[in-house]
Amino acid sequence: MKKIGIFYWPAKGNVATCAKKIEAAFGGSQTMLQSVDKTNRENFEGLDLIIVGGSTSGADAWQQASGNNPWFDFYAIFEKKPLTGTPVAIFGLGDQILYPDHFVDNMKLIKVEMEKAGGSIIGRWPTDGYDFTGSEAIEDDKFVGLALDEDQQDDLTDQRIRTWVEQIKKEASI
Ligand SMILES: Cc1cc2nc3c(=O)[nH]c(=O)nc-3n(C[C@H](O)[C@H](O)[C@H](O)COP(=O)(O)O)c2cc1C
Repeated sequence: MKKIGIFYWPAKGNVATCAKKIEAAFGGSQTMLQSVDKTNRENFEGLDLIIVGGSTSGADAWQQASGNNPWFDFYAIFEKKPLTGTPVAIFGLGDQILYPDHFVDNMKLIKVEMEKAGGSIIGRWPTDGYDFTGSEAIEDDKFVGLALDEDQQDDLTDQRIRTWVEQIKKEASI
């Protein structure tokens, strides 16, 4: 059976809620749900699909190399032993009304780091149905991963997750 790992941060809040929903959308598949602060390199052995999710909470918060930002330790675990082309799908939480110029920016950083880690990014997502003015997370007119907005469009989250999970299952041949 194919194995899927879902890694997310913060451990509590909208990202965690959506990570659980994504796991549920895989139904009977073998999934592992793990917050980024509890993750080690062994957790990635034998995975057929890696999903990584986070929120955007201002450039200061996510770029700062402070001791309590677990993303830096998470990315560092691949330095000695990179992934070898494992598919990586990204999801990101944001708020398109309060932060219209920086909607889900953080997905771009996750993409850059997971590519550096040797992952092969899948799961690009259309920008239709969102209302924002700018995002770092757009490449070739698409988000680099699934954009979710629990603050302004929580009614769309479940359907978006269902559709995206079917998409990435196909892309990763699961
Ligand atoms: C201080 C702060 C800054 C934020 N900055 C952004 C931002 O730049 N872009 C964005 O799309 N959302 C931004 N948000 C919205 C959060 O990403 C959104 O509320 C998300 O659902 C939070 O998920 P979490 O509780 O799991 O961290 C910000 C929220 C806060 C509190």
